[in-house]
Amino acid sequence: MMNTNLSLKDKTVLITGATGGIGEAIVSLMGSAGATLFISGTNEEKLRGLSQRLKDQGVDHHFKALNLTESGAAQALVDECLQKMERIDVLVNCAGINRTQLAEDVTEENWDAVHSINLKSMFFICQAAGRHMIERRSGKIINISSQTGTVAIPLRAAYCSSKAGVDQLTRVLALEWSKYNINVNAVAPTFVETPMTKKMFDDADFKKYVLDSIPLGRMAKPEEIAYPVLFLATEYADMITGHVMLVDGGWTIK
Ligand SMILES: NC(=O)c1ccc[n+]([C@@H]2O[C@H](COP(=O)([O-])OP(=O)(O)OC[C@H]3O[C@@H](n4cnc5c(N)ncnc54)[C@H](OP(=O)(O)O)[C@@H]3O)[C@@H](O)[C@H]2O)c1
Repeated sequence: MMNTNLSLKDKTVLITGATGGIGEAIVSLMGSAGATLFISGTNEEKLRGLSQRLKDQGVDHHFKALNLTESGAAQALVDECLQKMERIDVLVNCAGINRTQLAEDVTEENWDAVHSINLKSMFFICQAAGRHMIERRSGKIINISSQTGTVAIPLRAAYCSSKAGVDQLTRVLALEWSKYNINVNAVAPTFVETPMTKKMFDDADFKKYVLDSIPLGRMAKPEEIAYPVLFLATEYADMITGHVMLVDGGWTIK
């Protein structure tokens, strides 16, 4: 008989961007699925709040506040995670930012800020966790990309290019590490109402543009991103690697 229960019992998961709108949904779902979690973000207070909610939920977890754009931070995070949990079965890279600007106005500072967290730190976390997974000949990595890795959206030269980079990074790592039994995939959401996008939707014209562009006629909810991430973390996705799973309500069909 086939088992259809998506469980992460006895699995350890490292999640960056855990305190964000999408990150917290992933944390909550993976905790409910039985995983032991190591959660991170920049803001200690937010992490403490999330930690309390996980305690109330009975989820075994550890947390660490750090700025992943600082040199050596990715390795430090993975080292501490291994110290606390001994192994990393699943890595979810969810930390990210967006700074909207017309291409002709993008400053070097904003370009670097976006690429530094969205792509560079993601690579070095994958590398640090990947070395451990290579030794164990086992692991799953799920990178949170965006539909903007596939489709262009105005005011997002830095953001779209960073997410297209995430998609290609995912494919290269999948190719190089498949021989070590490591699956590397990405989940690429359409717009989700989170602290990242809240202000954008104060602009009624922009909100209309977004809703008109999504054939399903609505934005995604954070948990609708968390479920595909959970699926990719389980053994049911063992044959899937190098895949960028669009969760875009159909935006990219057109
Ligand atoms: N929301 C959307 O519509 C949407 C659509 C497609 C893709 N995405 C992607 O989904 C991911 C999560 O987005 P979200 O909407 O949940 O954003 P969010 O609510 O703004 O959360 C962002 C998360 O990233 C963390 N973070 C930011 N800069 C960091 C740094 N320098 N070092 C370590 N952690 C850092 C934040 O930590 P602190 O809060 O502690 O600073 C927070 O946990 C991002 O990669 C985003 O690009 C979002």
